[in-house]
Amino acid sequence: MKVLLVGSGGREHALAWQLAQSDKCEALYAAPGNAGIRECAACVAIDAEDVEGLVSFAKDKEVDMVVVGPEAPLVKGLADRLREENILVFGPSAKAAQLEGSKGFMKDICAKYNIPTAAYGRFTDIEKAKAFIEEHGAPIVVKADGLAAGKGVIIAQSEDEAIAAAADMLSGNSFGAAGHEVVIEEFLDGEELSFFAICDGKTALAFGSAQDHKRAYDNDQGPNTGGMGAYTPAHMMTRELHSQIMDELITPTVEGMAAEGCPFTGVLFAGVMLVNSKPYLLEHNVRFGDPECQALMKRFDGDLLNTLVAAAQGDLEAARSEIEWRNGTALCVVMAAEGYPGSYVKNTVIKGLESAHTIAETTIFHAGTGVNDEGAIVNTGGRVLGVTALGENAQEAQSRAYEAVALIDWPEGFCRKDIGYHAVAAEEERNLRNTQASA
Ligand code: AMP
Ligand code: GLY
Repeated sequence: MKVLLVGSGGREHALAWQLAQSDKCEALYAAPGNAGIRECAACVAIDAEDVEGLVSFAKDKEVDMVVVGPEAPLVKGLADRLREENILVFGPSAKAAQLEGSKGFMKDICAKYNIPTAAYGRFTDIEKAKAFIEEHGAPIVVKADGLAAGKGVIIAQSEDEAIAAAADMLSGNSFGAAGHEVVIEEFLDGEELSFFAICDGKTALAFGSAQDHKRAYDNDQGPNTGGMGAYTPAHMMTRELHSQIMDELITPTVEGMAAEGCPFTGVLFAGVMLVNSKPYLLEHNVRFGDPECQALMKRFDGDLLNTLVAAAQGDLEAARSEIEWRNGTALCVVMAAEGYPGSYVKNTVIKGLESAHTIAETTIFHAGTGVNDEGAIVNTGGRVLGVTALGENAQEAQSRAYEAVALIDWPEGFCRKDIGYHAVAAEEERNLRNTQASA
């Protein structure tokens, strides 16, 4: 098969790395790709949001299958256009992508199909929003309805703060059209995890769990980011919780979307909050998480192309036996440019990648990288590398990843030093209990 992968981040490098290993993959293109992706795919200079450019490239090259990494081209209708041209695509239609593109849409699906989620209201009028906030009290959560690059969520600690956030969003000042409607919802206090499912429009198969570290600095301090590291599986995952998430959150979403006339094909990435052991849906994304995907791909032990093609063809059952995982934990440490998520310098030189690759079970996925005139790898974005290692347990995965990080020579970069700390602590506690039990 000739395959086109859309996107340029660490998530896409991890997908490219797996797709290229498939026996069926005879050509792999990436648009636009990055300096790491070009090691396993032919990169073409088409922007990930240039829908017509991507469609005409796919037709020209007689591409059989398109895998879409980011949400923006999906919301813009890339999958619909490819289906019109009879090209297989892994990714939802624009209508189905509204699960991520409109928080109000997603909440209404939850309400209609009895999916547990925080109580909410949808507002375009500040007076009505204010009345709702005053009725429910703080803490309360205010969200811009549309895509806001992960910045459109305010956890307000007071009613005044919530009213100010809603007024700011509705004015269009901070989020433009994405804020013309807001969702205001109950604050859920609990532990968060990510859950993935591959969907073919009718059914869903679980595709792993993960935990992300969103804050920029150690001990979950500092500003929110796109994600500074992740590991899979999530340390609190159990057989019971897995079934509960599939039965209560994922399956009703997929069945509900089919009943609404917008069947969901692609990967559903559910943000889940566990409150007193009960899972609630915080949000749906219609793509893999970044950097969760890097950890998932490191641990995946099937044929990714076969799996995604089966979903795109509406025959996911054919892929059930493909979904296998290697034992242990996979963990990704993100290296970012100093200053990220604020302003940072570009085109600083990164060395030592070859020696970092020599650490056992470790792969360095590139995100914002390019090559300068001298042929050196440089940063072109804020999140730059995903140093990803597999270990028998979280502790081993963590120490391998940081061993590799130590070999990377990039003075202008930084990373968190505590990725996976919840999982390592949970393992230590388990070991201690086992030792006490056998003593
Ligand atoms: P979202 O983009 O909707 O996932 O929100 C981003 C982050 O805000 C989530 O990952 C949570 O950490 C937090 N969050 C969102 N909604 C709630 C809620 N209802 N209660 C508590 N925290 C929330
Ligand atoms: N790491 C969070 C996300 O991809 O949305």
